[in-house]
Amino acid sequence: MEQTAQQPPMEPHAELSAPWDEFLTRCQRSVEDVHTLEVRGTLTKLTGLVLEAVGIRVPVGAQCLVRQHNQPPVLAEVVGFSGERAFLMPAGDVHGLSSGASVRAAPPFISVPRFGVPSDNSAARPILTMHGTLRLPLGNGLLGRVVDAQGNPMDYRGPLEHVTALPLDRVPINAMDRAPVREILDTGIRAINAMLTVGRGQRLGLFAGSGVGKSVLLGMMARYTKADVIVVGLIGERGREVKEFIEDILGVEGRARAAVVAAPADASPLLRLQGAAYATAIAEHFRDEGQHVLLLMDSLTRYAMAQREIALAIGEPPATKGYPPSCFTRLPQLVERSGNGLHGVGSITAFYTVLAEGDDQQDPVADAARAILDGHFVLSRTLAESGHFPAIDIERSASRVMHNVVTREHFEMARRFRAIYSRYEKGRDLIQIGAYVPGSDPQLDEAIALQDSMRAFLQQDMFEASTLEDSLVGMAAVLGGSL
Ligand SMILES: Nc1ncnc2c1ncn2[C@@H]1O[C@H](COP(=O)(O)OP(=O)(O)OP(=O)(O)O)[C@@H](O)[C@H]1O
Ligand SMILES: [Mg+2]
Repeated sequence: MEQTAQQPPMEPHAELSAPWDEFLTRCQRSVEDVHTLEVRGTLTKLTGLVLEAVGIRVPVGAQCLVRQHNQPPVLAEVVGFSGERAFLMPAGDVHGLSSGASVRAAPPFISVPRFGVPSDNSAARPILTMHGTLRLPLGNGLLGRVVDAQGNPMDYRGPLEHVTALPLDRVPINAMDRAPVREILDTGIRAINAMLTVGRGQRLGLFAGSGVGKSVLLGMMARYTKADVIVVGLIGERGREVKEFIEDILGVEGRARAAVVAAPADASPLLRLQGAAYATAIAEHFRDEGQHVLLLMDSLTRYAMAQREIALAIGEPPATKGYPPSCFTRLPQLVERSGNGLHGVGSITAFYTVLAEGDDQQDPVADAARAILDGHFVLSRTLAESGHFPAIDIERSASRVMHNVVTREHFEMARRFRAIYSRYEKGRDLIQIGAYVPGSDPQLDEAIALQDSMRAFLQQDMFEASTLEDSLVGMAAVLGGSL
């Protein structure tokens, strides 16, 4: 039997009061978790970069404000303690601070609800509003924008929109819940697609000295890689390079789908560390929404150096080449955050540049990076000097997941290409001094015949993209076969 529901009589003005009820509920929710207890201490010492305070008991990682009468407050993070003394690292200039300045945990963040504007994710995720918790803007509004390590826009395009201030720390993904790297990522760069194929969710190091084309290569990847979102972390590089990278190298097409975090060399070591963590958090945010993210971090070495500055300043003893042990703990902690998402939802494929001058295999950061990354691309100064760009030294580079993502034919073709290329390099001196008699080594003859086309194949103009299919067809053509 059909029932005709009796509509309850409408309360007068109910349709007017509903949005207000909803707004007031959001206001109440935004303050209900706030801890109102405030802890305050006193600044007692400043040596080099480190502030020492007594009377404040807040956890390591907490954000504090150091306030001196008539001075703007200085933001500082607790980086260690000894008994009653807390060590803090300032994010800004400490000029003008003196003994006795007040130190208190930064006030909890309250995202102020606005009437008629639905709150983004803050309604979905409960926000813990503790004193001292660092939160930075995350959200779609970061695309196309350039921000500093504290989330302030640097591009003069007004305040960020469609972002929510969220804590940077996330629960790490259990290794067993992470999908393995199984799918090819088309980077748009011929030499990489064909010879050093990258998988979605892979973490790679770009090892190079200065001025051999790192920035140009990262820019090409940002423009041509098949990814939904690009996150660029410019950590500890020259300030001038930031503008150049964004305007000239990233270009309009790269920038539209990119979020850039810049913490240049003159930023405090704390901000350089934070910049790298923030860029990673942005990548994680998009990954958790199911997007495929490309994270480009320039550079991992400067990140380790920032950690070295902080660790030495608070008294940690140096171990290898001046780097204290905590640097080598920090590196995997940062790198492990990228990779495939939970049960295959979204991915972060990451490239970290590592400064490695010449053949210096002794650099501890390069050593550590090589061990924790799933592959290394080496840029060679000799190739760059001879005008061979991108200057990827394919003999010394490797992608450790390539065999998991490519077909057997592709793998076999790349192996053959590498063998022939390497044969020429081994005989190069003999050939150049005219000591090689053609015909005496059939393999070397083949290598000599293919040399020019191989080199031409590996080079690519910075404004030219090459898809995976084109790269494979090109490689097959060089080897005189077809796919
Ligand atoms: N694909 C390319 N095609 C043509 N020229 C290139 C290419 N890649 C790099 N170059 C040349 O190499 C120069 C140096 O490149 P880039 O600035 O990327 O080096 P870098 O390693 O980032 O340097 P630094 O260590 O100073 O940051 C560029 O100015 C450019 O002239
Ligand atoms: Mg550069």
